[in-house]
Amino acid sequence: YFYEIFKHFDLKLRNRIIWRFNHGLHCKKRFSVRYEVILWFTKTDEYIFNLDPVRIPAKYPGKRHFKGPKRGQLSGNPLGKNPSDIWDVVKQDWEDEVWDIPNVKANHPEKTEHPCQFPVELVQRCVLALTQPKGVVLDPYCGVGSTVIGALQHNRRAIAAEQDSTYVAITRERIQKFTQGTLPLRPLGKPIHQPTGKERVAQLPLDWK
Ligand SMILES: C[S@@+](CC[C@H](N)C(=O)[O-])C[C@H]1O[C@@H](n2cnc3c(N)ncnc32)[C@H](O)[C@@H]1O
Repeated sequence: YFYEIFKHFDLKLRNRIIWRFNHGLHCKKRFSVRYEVILWFTKTDEYIFNLDPVRIPAKYPGKRHFKGPKRGQLSGNPLGKNPSDIWDVVKQDWEDEVWDIPNVKANHPEKTEHPCQFPVELVQRCVLALTQPKGVVLDPYCGVGSTVIGALQHNRRAIAAEQDSTYVAITRERIQKFTQGTLPLRPLGKPIHQPTGKERVAQLPLDWK
């Protein structure tokens, strides 16, 4: 649907990025949805793509070329690898990661009352890779301003619109807290929690045994 609209305006599709997460509604009549799609279009062939700031750690950084003129030399990049078009950015680790910890509220780094808020980490990767410092980031449907925060964090300017005045107020408050350095944010690149299997919630309940 969006693809056709953008194509109509001669925009060029560079990537169809899958944002994959492990949290969400459990559907009863279809498979549960665990991804969202980001379409990255550019107006022309002259476009910004900064790979280095968004590289992620390579699985095998010590890998070397095994043949050819570079045989024996390290084959990777010391800054890490291209994150690819499948992004594992946790959606709600304030719920997934802390299931066993009673004081859940203390572990809600970004959550507001908005029902479909983006993690700022997701925005940051787009901002860093696809814009330059002092560039302008526009979000016409900004919700509680996650895009604005992601832009400000990296010295970009932001323009945002939102129809719901409650969310506009939360956006303003978040910007204010961000400028004061008091906005709780999940650090960029913080590893996703891997359950050990020992958590109470990971055990098969007695009723099902
Ligand atoms: C998916 S949410 C965006 C959430 C946002 N990314 C965040 O992290 O908070 C979409 C938002 O668009 C707003 N919206 C929908 N139609 C709009 C319109 N015509 N003009 C401005 N805002 C609109 C909704 O109120 C909603 O908050």
